Amino acid sequence: MCGIVGYTGHDKAKDIIIDGLKKLEYRGYDSAGVALMEDGGIQVRKKAGGSGTGGIANLEKAVAKEKFRATTGIGHTRWATHGQPSDVNSHPHASYDGEIAIVHNGIIENYRELKDQLEKKYGIEFVSDTDSEVIAQLIRVLYDGDLEHAVRKAVKKMEGAYTFAAIAKGEPEKIVAYRKDTPLIAGIGKDCNFIASDMTALLQYIDDFYLIDNGEMVVETPDRIKILDPAGKEVTREPLKVTWNQEDAEKGGYSHFMLKEIHEQPKAVQETVSRRIGKDGKIVLDGIKLTLKDLKKFNKICIVACGTAYHAGLVGKYVIEQMARIPVEVDVASEFRYRDPFVDDKTLFIAISQSGETLDTLMSLREAKGKGARILSIVNVVGSSVARESDDVFYTWAGPEIAVASTKAYTTQLVCLYLLALYMADLKGTITREYYDEILSELKAMPARAKRVLKKADKIEEMAKLLYNRDQIFYIGRGIDSSLAYEGSLKLKEISYINSFAIAAGELKHGTIALMEPDTTVIALATQDRLFDKMYANVEEIKARHAHIVSIAKSGNKKIKKVSDDVITIPKCRDEVTPILSIIPLQLFAYYIARERGENIDKPRNLAKSVTVE
Ligand code: F6R
Repeated sequence: MCGIVGYTGHDKAKDIIIDGLKKLEYRGYDSAGVALMEDGGIQVRKKAGGSGTGGIANLEKAVAKEKFRATTGIGHTRWATHGQPSDVNSHPHASYDGEIAIVHNGIIENYRELKDQLEKKYGIEFVSDTDSEVIAQLIRVLYDGDLEHAVRKAVKKMEGAYTFAAIAKGEPEKIVAYRKDTPLIAGIGKDCNFIASDMTALLQYIDDFYLIDNGEMVVETPDRIKILDPAGKEVTREPLKVTWNQEDAEKGGYSHFMLKEIHEQPKAVQETVSRRIGKDGKIVLDGIKLTLKDLKKFNKICIVACGTAYHAGLVGKYVIEQMARIPVEVDVASEFRYRDPFVDDKTLFIAISQSGETLDTLMSLREAKGKGARILSIVNVVGSSVARESDDVFYTWAGPEIAVASTKAYTTQLVCLYLLALYMADLKGTITREYYDEILSELKAMPARAKRVLKKADKIEEMAKLLYNRDQIFYIGRGIDSSLAYEGSLKLKEISYINSFAIAAGELKHGTIALMEPDTTVIALATQDRLFDKMYANVEEIKARHAHIVSIAKSGNKKIKKVSDDVITIPKCRDEVTPILSIIPLQLFAYYIARERGENIDKPRNLAKSVTVE
């Protein structure tokens, strides 16, 4: 999705901004551009081309020979909404006379109306097909030498989601930015300041930053950051420390971010668990204030999320219901928000989101909040919108996840759900202390076990070499394994583009088994001791149709070998916690298949890391 970077200081703005834009490439984009304050004017350079088509390299090439000296500027990576990807539709957009330039994330819903007015009243000729150009033209007609005032007047006329940054030719060292619904941070540099929509753009430049709230405006010069509330009153705010480091956002010798992030899972899980164990060996939920009284009040839990985070929610349902005995509904956010769900003040609403900015998840959260629900979120990005709008926040502490395909965020979301389930169960007294201790020690053992699973990467790579040309691959499982089947299948299709389908194994005979024929490939998750005989029977049925079967099972399971062409084992553990381990072979399998097929693994086609539009 779109990204914003801005710099005002004493160094060359062009290099810093382009470097920041490169760090935002992972989010997905189709064009990029910069606006630089150069010799008393604003110079705009922009180029179409996203991941896989030259992208920011096109822009870099276009400006390479120009010796810009500008020390203030703004830049943008665009994900087209209004108007196809093209040079002219790329950001920044300048006003008709080049006095103002802006970059924008979001959608101006009333842009047609504003455009009509600007055309009729001022005779402005628009050059792009975008909604965003309206912002530049509108600020221009309201500008009387004070950008801050013009922006304040302009936002009163706009509707929609709009976070943007503006510069004015007449105020060469100033950036004015405004936040509405999509993220914005103000980075504190040394004799310089930054703005960005995403922390990763600034990791190498800043240690401290301000989170900008909805409706707030930031006015930056090299020596000052001024934050103004919606009424125009200056706000004093403590800066926050950057908790991610630059290495976390670099490939560190791995061929892809996805592979690096898969291998980071032991560390990420370790971090998520160890921060939550108190001196007495019991769980301490930082950021969550749930009491027994609260729990007694809730008659149900709604877990709402999208994509991979939704799949984590499916596992959450099993463990919370089983351990804490509270009914749990799980919805994809885009459905939840439009189904007028039964939610009230007796509902605990759990939003799960890596980015914390997924629009459907955020809107569902607001819907539930409006109906009185208590909002708890499991989020990776500190200070993101979902986190800020929640009553309780449980951070996954997975570090930055750059690859579009989510891996370590998923495993840490699972860990958070286990911790939450155990905590609630303990408070309610629905589990024994022995069980509590046992599951907790299983969780503590997961980093070492995950490392053992990662050692099977070579074997999985070999398997991928054999199977990468298949047209379709099915994933099946029972119980908690069926949730893993969905996630494994999503991983495969999003990065390898192989048609893939996941189904609860017991459901096969109600239709889908009709598709099984010689050479059909099936990944069978058979990690649940409790359901193993049933699962075995399902795999046998498929084997009878001569499908190629790869099973994921606990180590020591000899029986499954009889009906499988290949078996990947995970270390022995209790049924409840297998997902933390069994997802790893599925992630590696998807990765190696996509690599064999030569796909753009970290930035798959048509996908963005953070989906901030509907
Ligand atoms: C798949 C993937 C997506 C995200 C989904 C939600 O690998 O990454 O399905 O899980 O877009 O994103 P967040 O978690 O940021 O809300």
